[in-house]
Amino acid sequence: MRKQIVAGNWKMNNDLAQTEALITELKKQTKTSNAAVMVAPTFTNLWQAYQSLKGSNIEVIAQNMHFAKNGAYTGEVSASMLKSVGVNTVILGHSERREYFNETDDMLAKKVDAALESGMNIIFCFGEVLEDRKSGNHEKVVEEQIKNALFHLDSSSFFNIVLAYEPVWAIGTGETATPEQAQDMHAFIRKTLANKYGANVAETVSILYGGSVKPNNAQEIFSKPDVDGGLIGGASLNAEDFFAIANAF
Ligand code: PGA
Repeated sequence: MRKQIVAGNWKMNNDLAQTEALITELKKQTKTSNAAVMVAPTFTNLWQAYQSLKGSNIEVIAQNMHFAKNGAYTGEVSASMLKSVGVNTVILGHSERREYFNETDDMLAKKVDAALESGMNIIFCFGEVLEDRKSGNHEKVVEEQIKNALFHLDSSSFFNIVLAYEPVWAIGTGETATPEQAQDMHAFIRKTLANKYGANVAETVSILYGGSVKPNNAQEIFSKPDVDGGLIGGASLNAEDFFAIANAF
């Protein structure tokens, strides 16, 4: 069975004290599902979060990283820096990185390579904007995003990659893809993977859905056969809501 994952992307929220407070709340929650639970605090709070969650069943992951090993890249953080504070998984390609920080498919391909070279796991995000959905181009756009950033890899790399389909029009908007829209796209993504790498790889890669997942819609979305969990923004900032989602399988 594929790994089920619920990952919280805290984005640029929570200073150190707020991070500690949220972690204290998270530790009070009980996990009843088999889903792996992850949280992504901002860079400055990773070490503290790692220390506080050590020994729990919550993994601390990062929201981004640079592709270079080190050097003159003011303001950036490398894979080895993340690893040195206990972080072994990184989110790459989030639509906010693509939109506000001009991250291109080429740049993301380099980031993917750098993360894999450092032995990190990746949650790789992609998704169409509203115009693509309206014009019926959503599958084509998603296929290109996946191909451009990932299809230079060999099949063994996919042991370390989780995909996250996040329709941009559903992120932080309160609008969710219907469970059927999510399932259709996830099945399409799996088919795209199967065409390139074969059915075995396609069947083992977890594909998460992201975009306004909340406690009241998680169960229906996660019940779809090709949806293996979620990448959660807003609702991950509340411990009770986040665990309600993590337990929604
Ligand atoms: P949202 O964010 O749950 O607030 O829509 C999802 C994401 O950006 O991963």
